[in-house]
Amino acid sequence: MGLQDLIRDVPDFPRPGVTFKDIGPLLADPAGLAACIAALAKPWRDARLDAICGIESRGFIFGAAMAQVLETGFVPLRKVGKLPPPTIGVDYDLEYGSARLEVGAQGLRPGARVLLVDDVLATGGTLAAGRTLLEQLQVELVGASVVIEIDALGGRARWPAPLPLLALLHC
Ligand code: PRP
Ligand code: MG
Repeated sequence: MGLQDLIRDVPDFPRPGVTFKDIGPLLADPAGLAACIAALAKPWRDARLDAICGIESRGFIFGAAMAQVLETGFVPLRKVGKLPPPTIGVDYDLEYGSARLEVGAQGLRPGARVLLVDDVLATGGTLAAGRTLLEQLQVELVGASVVIEIDALGGRARWPAPLPLLALLHC
């Protein structure tokens, strides 16, 4: 069974017209989860990363596991109101709704080599918001990894072309 088979499509969730990508079966499968984390980490082994920034909430799961494999720190990009001050934040649009992403202003030193991680690239708004936040911290954003890219939603267009954006699975 391939990794793709461990992603469940849930039509009309969380609202009509949206097909939710359920990573639950992947997370629950020991071999599948291990293979997923190894494959996500592999391209970045020689990237000399200092930190992985995972986006709340599902980006935490993959980002933290990758940080352990790649022996980097992990810095959470959190939804509004979760982090103590000082923080900086950015508002962004979701496929279904809007949100605000925040990061602790002291978590990353200027010039740190950082990888952004999330589970799904849909419209691209979340990943773009993460990029905007990191630019404000003056870190060196090396690229991004996602588990699933929903090609039809065109989110990749919101990511600056020269910067690597790697997707493990496409649907
Ligand atoms: C989901 C998903 C990505 C984002 C992708 O997060 O986990 O982070 O949407 O959508 P976009 O490319 O259109 O921005 P969401 O905030 O819905 O929920 P989560 O807290 O479960 O990660
Ligand atoms: Mg998310």
